[in-house]
Amino acid sequence: MEKIDLIYFYDWFDKYVKTFLDKDTFINENIKLKEEHTKRVCDNANMISRDIKINEHDKNIAEIAALFHDIGRFEQFKKYKTFNDKISENHALLGIKVLKQEKVLSNLKEEDQKCIFKAIENHNLFKLEKDLDEKSSLFSKIIRDADKLDIYKVVTDYYKEPEDKKNTAIEHDLPNTKGYSSEFMVDIMNGKNSSNKYIKNRNDMRLIKLTWIFDINYNISLKQIINKKYIEKTFEVLPRTEEMDKMKEILFKYINEKIN
Ligand SMILES: [Fe+2]
Repeated sequence: MEKIDLIYFYDWFDKYVKTFLDKDTFINENIKLKEEHTKRVCDNANMISRDIKINEHDKNIAEIAALFHDIGRFEQFKKYKTFNDKISENHALLGIKVLKQEKVLSNLKEEDQKCIFKAIENHNLFKLEKDLDEKSSLFSKIIRDADKLDIYKVVTDYYKEPEDKKNTAIEHDLPNTKGYSSEFMVDIMNGKNSSNKYIKNRNDMRLIKLTWIFDINYNISLKQIINKKYIEKTFEVLPRTEEMDKMKEILFKYINEKIN
């Protein structure tokens, strides 16, 4: 079996990211945010790969897909100063374009390249593409979980920040208005992850991330969500209502049934 040189890809990533550093602290802060996010997503992907016991080659492919899943974020932020795909462009497709232009994956086998592109393309879709081949589906699922786990970490850390220190790019510059869209509650009651189209304010942005729990693929990821208390930390920054208590109960019940 061929030896995959992971260091080559990490070096390429580091050099590429450096080209985006700027005198502007707002830009730097957000470039660093995605750089650090990426490294943790790689760690999460490795944790999942180990837990589900895939072979060394597949573990490496999953790690490369993790390393490049958000490579489009850098160009996106430089060009549009936002991480909101709706008002800029799809950062997954932008990332694939960058990787192809720069021929970053060209020393990998064609089929491995194809799987990595598929995993990147699928990482931010509402639902995993249907009819994916077995390997593309495996890597897509690993990246989707690994990414969500780190987004939970980033946002729950951010919730604790004082209001005047908040980096509003994390919540896509949404208004901090009262209330929340009822669609999220309906979806949680029905055990479904929600569509982005209902997001109107910061509460919605927080609630939708809780609906992602129904789209988590691996038990190790659900266990992390429990251990790191991401659900409790999110409800702490949402309105205190009976409806919220009900949603919390449903989410915990769902996870406990899955992992036990
Ligand atoms: Fe992403």
